[in-house]
Amino acid sequence: MNDTAGQPSPARAAALPTRFTELVGIEYPIVQTGMGWVSGPSLTAATSNAGGLGILASATMTYDELVAAIAKTKSLTDKPFGVNIRADATDAPQRIDLLIREQVKVASFALAPKQDLIAKLKDHGVVVVPSIGAAKHAVKVASWGADAVIVQGGEGGGHTGPVATTLLLPSVLDGLSDNGFDMPVVAAGGFFDGRGLAAALAYGAAGVAMGTRFLLTSDSAVPDSVKQQYLGRGLTDTVVSRKVDGMPHRVLRTPLIEALESGNAVTALVAAARNANEFKQLTGMRWTAMLRDGRAMRRSGERTWQQIIMAGNTPMLLRAGLVEGNTDAGVLASGQVVGMIEDLPSCNDLVQTIMSQAHERLKALGALG
Ligand SMILES: Cc1cc2nc3c(=O)[nH]c(=O)nc-3n(C[C@H](O)[C@H](O)[C@H](O)COP(=O)(O)O)c2cc1C
Repeated sequence: MNDTAGQPSPARAAALPTRFTELVGIEYPIVQTGMGWVSGPSLTAATSNAGGLGILASATMTYDELVAAIAKTKSLTDKPFGVNIRADATDAPQRIDLLIREQVKVASFALAPKQDLIAKLKDHGVVVVPSIGAAKHAVKVASWGADAVIVQGGEGGGHTGPVATTLLLPSVLDGLSDNGFDMPVVAAGGFFDGRGLAAALAYGAAGVAMGTRFLLTSDSAVPDSVKQQYLGRGLTDTVVSRKVDGMPHRVLRTPLIEALESGNAVTALVAAARNANEFKQLTGMRWTAMLRDGRAMRRSGERTWQQIIMAGNTPMLLRAGLVEGNTDAGVLASGQVVGMIEDLPSCNDLVQTIMSQAHERLKALGALG
């Protein structure tokens, strides 16, 4: 893949129907995941226009910003797209009502939504696709009525688990079938090309979802200087840190992360509280709402108050890096796959190239069989 300037676009690849593409009404089994501060209307619409499924990230938006982002996305594409919601956010029910009113095709969740919210979305024709990191969670959301799952392996960017995609994916597929569930599974974590898509399909997945690869396109609004920082990185240049918000978070190894990793807890806590305050001002969230969200996090995840205050840190640190381009003071979430990426294609060229490679691999594999 090459920079788009002056390059001819690859030929249009044939559609590749899977149970996931049929479920959500798209041409190719490729999802661009919801990435806070990164997947706004232009990236989301560009992916959907390219024949994949774009997902707006809403955890870093106020409710009003989400209203505007959905309207903007609809003005840029008439294809299906999704919205990623934090299921534990205080206003998740209002956001869900908004998706229903706006007839958004897909509701994506970082944490499992409550059973009644899944039922409500489904009753109104919204496809429910939670992201999960363990077979038992896939079985749980399947029993609650989710339509499909995205399975993110440990090499993936942002919040991530310890098990690599090559093992997590078959364990989830087995866990679902052992328990009598037959839902489309989309594989995430480490995908960037058509070989990966063909491999995921060979495992029995119904498609792939990619974060880092879509961040590194000409359609993503991340500042160019930041994209260049990513492009310069190798396969071992990410690290999983718990120091940002108390949860394992895969990010680029930067001087800030190294300082956080070696710094003392008090310094980190003071910085976290300051960032939580800025996040509150930026999103118009009241302290009472933040505390309510914090209590819900405590209930669901056994986290300490220190880790919850640290959680306020994450959105601001990501924003400093990904929106303001302040790579010294910010955190740059990234998958290990960054080490395999060397270019900034448009979403359309990226999707087309992946699809023609995937068709080629599938044909070669078919000849073997
Ligand atoms: C910059 C960045 C921001 C992310 N933000 C979110 C988010 O807000 N919500 C979420 O559910 N996942 C988030 N993720 C995780 C991605 O949705 C996705 O699961 C992951 O990037 C897949 O792995 P890959 O980077 O190897 O493609 C983020 C990932 C990145 C790289």
